[in-house]
Amino acid sequence: MTNVYNIAIDGPAGAGKSTIARAVAEKLNFVYVDTGAMYRAMALHFLRNGISASDEADISLAAGNANVTLSYENGVQQVILNGENVSGLIRSEEVGTMASAVSVHLMVREKLVELQKELASRENVIMDGRDIGTCVLPDADLKIYLTASSQVRAKRRYSELKEKGQECSLEEIEQDIIRRDYQDMNREHSPLKQAEDAVLLDSSDMTAKEVIDRILMLFKDKLKERS
Ligand code: DC
Repeated sequence: MTNVYNIAIDGPAGAGKSTIARAVAEKLNFVYVDTGAMYRAMALHFLRNGISASDEADISLAAGNANVTLSYENGVQQVILNGENVSGLIRSEEVGTMASAVSVHLMVREKLVELQKELASRENVIMDGRDIGTCVLPDADLKIYLTASSQVRAKRRYSELKEKGQECSLEEIEQDIIRRDYQDMNREHSPLKQAEDAVLLDSSDMTAKEVIDRILMLFKDKLKERS
């Protein structure tokens, strides 16, 4: 038995994984690892180098030249791509769509999964993504599959963008979400799916606080089982 604790949170785009995981990490004093940000940094590298997501040979070559690492500033995750902090450059829809497209490639996944496993072996982490419970941390102490209906997820995203003053269409956002779900759930390598031993939480009718409290409660129960 290891002496670190790992919590895995998987789920589709826009389910609120990062908000929830960040809050739980703060409560438990765990390190929050946003693995989507790592795929986004890789995607940025490919976009900058004009590489097509469908060109497997080019992707493999370019992935070899992309060094993605994480660092923490005041507890906030920073993503470093070949020495450059790209945290502020990876949140666009363009990069998100590219991240989903390039994450189908085994070479990209193997490189990032290795780093994720290594991080989780050293520290108490709460890690979110698509394949954490199924592939990266199969022995996690607690696994959550966090989802919400595509309408609810689209509405949340729409409100976020509106708040930032960005023009957007609710229908287009929902279509993007449905497309991304399909791509992430139907790829060959480590598709998004609920691990057999994961707890399903549908946040469509739950507040963030309710979800956070439920996860903290589930973790407490797991701690009792482990001690
Ligand atoms: O969570 P996100 O939207 O930042 O993730 C962007 C894309 O990266 C997502 O659509 C699929 C891919 N991804 C993945 O394949 N595996 C992960 N563990 C995390 C993200």
